[in-house]
Amino acid sequence: MLHDVHSYSTPDAARVRHLNLELRVNFERRILIGTATWSLAGPAKSPLVLDTKDLQIHSVAAVDANGERMLEWKLGPADPILGAPLTIQLPPGVDRVRVRYDTAPNASALQWLQPEQTAGKKFPFLFTQSEAIHARSFIPCQDTPSVRITYAAHIHTPETLVAVMGAEADQGLLRAHNGDYRFHMVEPIPSYLIALAVGDLEFRSIGRRTGVWAEPVVVDRAAREFEDMEKMVEAAERIYGPYRWGRYDVLVLPPSFPFGGMENPRLTFATPTILAGDKSLVSLIAHELAHSWSGNLVTNATWGDFWLNEGVTVYLERRIVGEIYGGEREDMEAVLGRQELEKEMASLPAQDQLLKINLAGRNPDDGVTSVPYEKGYLFLRTIAEQVGRDRFDEFLRGYFDHFAFRSITTEEAIAYMRKAGILRPSIPVEEWLTQPGIPSSAFRPASDLLAKVDAVAAQWHGEQLAGAGKWSTQQWLRFLRMLPASLTAAQMAQLDQRYHFTRTGNDEILAQWLEMSVARHYTPAAPELERFLMTVGRQKYLKPLYEALAKTPEGKQFARKVYARARPGYHPIAQTTVDRILR
Ligand code: BES
Ligand code: ZN
Repeated sequence: MLHDVHSYSTPDAARVRHLNLELRVNFERRILIGTATWSLAGPAKSPLVLDTKDLQIHSVAAVDANGERMLEWKLGPADPILGAPLTIQLPPGVDRVRVRYDTAPNASALQWLQPEQTAGKKFPFLFTQSEAIHARSFIPCQDTPSVRITYAAHIHTPETLVAVMGAEADQGLLRAHNGDYRFHMVEPIPSYLIALAVGDLEFRSIGRRTGVWAEPVVVDRAAREFEDMEKMVEAAERIYGPYRWGRYDVLVLPPSFPFGGMENPRLTFATPTILAGDKSLVSLIAHELAHSWSGNLVTNATWGDFWLNEGVTVYLERRIVGEIYGGEREDMEAVLGRQELEKEMASLPAQDQLLKINLAGRNPDDGVTSVPYEKGYLFLRTIAEQVGRDRFDEFLRGYFDHFAFRSITTEEAIAYMRKAGILRPSIPVEEWLTQPGIPSSAFRPASDLLAKVDAVAAQWHGEQLAGAGKWSTQQWLRFLRMLPASLTAAQMAQLDQRYHFTRTGNDEILAQWLEMSVARHYTPAAPELERFLMTVGRQKYLKPLYEALAKTPEGKQFARKVYARARPGYHPIAQTTVDRILR
């Protein structure tokens, strides 16, 4: 009996098992017209409760061999975060239920893009983002990660556009032109992994079971950037056991995608901001791929256990990066991760610094800080350092096999670790899970390559940077982050003249530079800042930029002016984030 505070559903009484989904994509009205037919698992106790958010329900029927029979249903009061429960009376023996509905134009899982917001500028685009609790805004479902389902979907799109899903396509990888697409997902997944995108999309193969989908003008660049994907899957399989999902493809979205990446099964959704041209930002692909084990195979049972998804994934991500790009890159990314964690934690309330977080009454999106990611990583890395990396890999492999296709709590994971004998008495487990801050015995990542950069940054007085010609993206990021707070706008100008940060094609470096430009009042970067805020919707960049701007009256005025124009192009989730910063 597990209680998920973010779902109205009562799966212990009546639980869904399989979904038959039909969606008509209407770009004119910005809605999906849907039919969701749910098969129930085993004997069900009435009522069946589904989560919904801003759905317009037309009818609910029981389905059997003889056809449909209308059922009694009621939509409860709507909560701004959770939406409204759809309570359906189940007569005895009913094991299939069909809901006919429309989504709202402002459905929180959906972003509808105008042609101007795409790379090709000719066709509209739609994509979904279900994690954490947005699936309910486009499918009435038991929207808790503790319930797993299989599904089949039939998607109707305008004839010129292509539909893709995080599922197996019945039409294969060919671009069909009749606006009629079918998919099926035979591995049981939680609702937050249901994903759909519709646009002018093309496919390029990378390896035997890997490839990339993107708009035609982006797809070749993406295929080059991700050329190591097949190797990544092979490395992950070698260490953590079979990849259990068939194909692994990546969909590159337009820049308004609010996240870096989303681990939709068989089809990672990714931001185009990682296309740096030199593979320097592809650890994000390693991260989303790693979720095929940590997250998609073994899933957090509630959003309070989110570190089980993300902390374990960051650990796997860095192992994969180490295998493909070497230990130095792995170390650099671990150091940058810890730096990020310490910086963010300094301004987080104590309750948000815990690995096991209480999100009752809150939006689970609020729990998405570097804590589950980087504190989770440090917890696991600390254990791995003690028992040895190989033994820890072996443990993880056993953990994935043992809990495969199940959703588990922090307590279950810890109990399993104890049984496996990898938690030495010197590890303060309770402190890691339930106390703020980072335990003093935590592993401290170190990198010689970054230490060199630190020395240069600390003493920089305007001269040429020794050795910088060969610096990697990670080194440049570190350099920028380590420059003293006393840096003046004149010194910023000097750096820009020599190293052209404002014109860099690397969005990670650009975002870092723009944030510094705001803090140091380096106004020549303002036009680029405006362009960036107008096109990129990735929250990881928007948040620090708008926060930095909001610190001064002039900055806030500039931010409000830009945001007034940028907001309609942001995803509903990103709009909420920025609204809060600028209100
Ligand atoms: N699963 C997350 C994205 C997410 C988390 C979406 C919570 C909604 C709610 C994904 O795997 C992720 O962590 N993405 C990161 C990139 C990663 C390299 C740290 C991101 O989007 O920045
Ligand atoms: Zn993740």
